[in-house]
Parts: sequence; structure tokens; C-alpha cells
Amino acid sequence: MKQITIAIDGYSSTGKSTVAKRLAKALNYIYVDTGAMYRAVTLYALDQNLITDEHLDVQGVVNAVEKLKLNFVLNLDTQQGEIHLNGANVEGKIRNLRVSRKVSKIAAIPEVRAKLVALQQKMGEDKGVVMDGRDIGTVVFPNAELKLFMTASAEKRANRRYKELLERGDKVSYDDVLKNVQERDHIDSTRKTSPLKKAADAIEFDNSDMGLDEQFERIHQFALRLINK
Ligand code: DC
Repeated sequence: MKQITIAIDGYSSTGKSTVAKRLAKALNYIYVDTGAMYRAVTLYALDQNLITDEHLDVQGVVNAVEKLKLNFVLNLDTQQGEIHLNGANVEGKIRNLRVSRKVSKIAAIPEVRAKLVALQQKMGEDKGVVMDGRDIGTVVFPNAELKLFMTASAEKRANRRYKELLERGDKVSYDDVLKNVQERDHIDSTRKTSPLKKAADAIEFDNSDMGLDEQFERIHQFALRLINK
């Protein structure tokens, strides 16, 4: 079967990863969560005190990212790829507000982006990949056969993320989650290097009022049409 590249971009908490994972499974493609890569670098920077509420040591982060080892390892029980940082599984440590509050600042550093984009291009070089992020259709794979741009209102997205965090046992307030979603939207779409924007040839997908199954079915059909062309 023909292999294509599928790029899924959009604002945070638009459900990109849920649909991307399901699509990768249905097509037997590799799934790459590029947000996890930026989050893992942020975790490292936090642990090394390179970023605090008061300061950001940009040169320190740039030096560190050159040496960091980042890769995905398949968890055989869940059949999901999990991010490893310098050989340690950090999947359980990157999806909290501590990391979310700082990740956009780390992702705005051009050298960090250059290094992660190169890794992502390598991961997808043989096609047969579903990659989600902010700049996949614009920068990482501008020639991707299928590009989607996911949107939903900030309140709907904050509500989804809030429920997820509560289910995991994190003690957060809805207002803090909404504030973080809005802050990240702002930083992600106004940064100088590769800001979040819809690629001219991406299909825009507003899922504020769409269930997961309907969303998946529609995107799956787009993909099958291109694969069978
Ligand atoms: O998808 P996510 O919320 O896990 O992403 C975390 C942050 O990483 C997000 O606020 C912006 C940044 N990011 C990015 O700049 N480029 C990507 N390709 C993926 C994520």
C-alpha cells in the first residue's frame, strides 16, 4: 500500500494526539508526538534550573539540547510510544502544569527547534507516519500529502485538559488550566521562529462540537482517499 505523510497541527488540547494515535493504529503507521519532545527538553531544563519563574538560561538550554538523547520506545503493554530522555522513560513526568507553564518558552528557542525538527524529519523520512505538533505541515514536512489544522474554542479545550488532569489526580483549578491554554496559544502563535499557523494547503478542522468517533471517521476517510489515489 502507498505510504503517505500525515501532519496534524493545531492549538493545544484540540485532541490532536487522540485522533493522530487512532489514525496511526488504523493505518499501521508510526505516530510521533512532537509536543512530547518539547516537553521532555523542558523537563530537563527545569530539573537543571536552566528555567525558573525568574530566569531563562537560553545558552544553557542550547548547550544541553545538543547533547540530549531523545527517542520514543514502544510500550508493549499499551502499544504506545513513550518518550525517553537520556535513556530514562519520562512519559509520566511531562504532562503536568509545571512543564506546561514553561514549554512554550523553551519551544520558542530557535536552536531547540532546529535540533528537534531535524530529529522529527529523520523519524518520518520513510513516510508512513502521523506526526502531530504546531509546525509539522509548515516546517517539518511542508510536502506532507495530508495536512490537518485542528481548532476548538479555548474554553472547550481548557475543559478537556482540566478533566484529563483531574482524572490523573492532579490538583488544578479550571481557571489555571484556561489561563495556561490562553498563554500558550499566545506564545505559540506569536513566536518568531515557526509560529503556529495553518499551512495554506491544510484542512481546517474545528472540533468544538464534534465527537471523537465522527472526527476520526472523517480524517480516516481523507487519508484513505489519498492512499488509494
Ligand atoms: O502538543 P503539546 O501541548 O504537548 O505541546 C507542548 C508545547 O510544545 C506547546 O505549547 C508548543 C510546543 N510545540 C511546538 O512548539 N512545536 C511542536 N511541533 C509541538 C509542540
